[in-house]
Amino acid sequence: MAEVLILSQSTDKGERYKSLVPQIESLITGESDVVANLSNIAAALRQSMNFFWVGFYIVKNNAMPAGRQELVLGPFQGPIACTRIAFGKGVCGASWKEKKVMLVPNVDEFPGHIACSSDSKSEIVLPAFKNNEVALVLDVDSDKLNDFDKTDELYLGQVMRLIEKFL
Ligand code: SME
Repeated sequence: MAEVLILSQSTDKGERYKSLVPQIESLITGESDVVANLSNIAAALRQSMNFFWVGFYIVKNNAMPAGRQELVLGPFQGPIACTRIAFGKGVCGASWKEKKVMLVPNVDEFPGHIACSSDSKSEIVLPAFKNNEVALVLDVDSDKLNDFDKTDELYLGQVMRLIEKFL
């Protein structure tokens, strides 16, 4: 695995992602442990893209009531965050329920948004699939309004496809 992350100095977000995605690929090559890989991916995204908050919520079976699934906080970088999110709740729960990317330019205008931090202003959430079901979501939060666009969706989508290889 690569031990040093080469940080692109480009001011262009697309260029920074283009440098990052192959490095993420080599970071996880040969390692099958899900927590180790998700931890390094969260750190690499934080280091290279300077996100305010970046991390994973993983679909897990709840003990009580038995059988019900929830999103549970996984590896992340940034301030402490909510630990559990119900199906369909907030932006992450909506991405899980609708099985699609959620791009939210202003979280205050998203019905049911879960405010883990009042500093969070915009957000993108992308699902990763295993056997056609959502296995986890990547949540990226910004302290600026309207901070995510199709460029983030494209390259973070590539990261999700890499994650699906080890899920
Ligand atoms: N805002 C998210 C919850 C997770 S945190 O912001 C880290 C949501 O509405 O799903």
